[in-house]
Amino acid sequence: MIGLDGKQILITGAASGIGRALAELAIEGGARVTLADVDGGTLDAIAAGGRASAVEMSVADLAAWKSLESPARGWDFVALNAGVMSAPRDAPAEASDFLAITYDQYRRIVGVNLDGVAFGIRETLPRLAETGAIVATASIAGLVGFGADVAYSMTKHGVIGLVRAMASQLQMQGRPQRICAICPGGVQTNIVPDFMESEAEMMDPSVIAQEIASLWTTGENGEVRMKVLANAPAEAVAPAPIPGLELG
Ligand SMILES: NC(=O)c1ccc[n+]([C@@H]2O[C@H](COP(=O)([O-])OP(=O)(O)OC[C@H]3O[C@@H](n4cnc5c(N)ncnc54)[C@H](O)[C@@H]3O)[C@@H](O)[C@H]2O)c1
Repeated sequence: MIGLDGKQILITGAASGIGRALAELAIEGGARVTLADVDGGTLDAIAAGGRASAVEMSVADLAAWKSLESPARGWDFVALNAGVMSAPRDAPAEASDFLAITYDQYRRIVGVNLDGVAFGIRETLPRLAETGAIVATASIAGLVGFGADVAYSMTKHGVIGLVRAMASQLQMQGRPQRICAICPGGVQTNIVPDFMESEAEMMDPSVIAQEIASLWTTGENGEVRMKVLANAPAEAVAPAPIPGLELG
């Protein structure tokens, strides 16, 4: 991938799926990569090649963000990608019902999917290079009401809102950095519950890794990009038009 050579990169949720594919892409592209995940054992195996370092941490843990070391000249690119769904992979559909999940499950998904991105922005933006960019992994479930997992859909709408508002703040303050969101459709990874597996074509995680790398290098500040099918181009998703208002 053009444009990653020598870059200092942080990837959360790097032990599996999209984050792992992105880690491999970045390492192969010559970047210096910090891999963060709760699954430290797998991270160590990915990092063993040399150009990456592994940090076992939960993105929902503010203290862990505070103690995360950053490169002397700052991060070039950050992927706030770690995420969970309401119920474990092998749970039946009813286990994701918004009225059935426990408050512990609710706090967990909000902690990982929303706090994890909010903390990540607050803790890495001040240490982001002038030409740097942050990409958060949202979902098409953040663009439409996704009744199969309401809490997940809520958090992903929140990620998109956070990215758009933060991009607006960066622009208002005349700061040069960029923040974007990627909204994947179905991707063949461990997050997808068995009951959601369907006839629909699932993308390989490497397809989304390429889109994140492309947003890092050329995405517009505030860009929300949707990628739903491997063989169809990604599309920028514009904010809802509001008569008389031009805010992004
Ligand atoms: N797979 C899909 O169909 C799909 C579609 C749209 C969006 N997404 C999003 O893509 C992102 C990556 O998910 P994936 O599909 O690769 O799933 P995955 O389960 O394969 O990978 C998620 C990774 O996040 C890590 N993680 C979970 N909780 C964490 C925490 N508290 N702190 C740090 N790491 C944590 C997991 O250990 C795992 O390595 C998520 O944000 C997910 O919501 C996935």
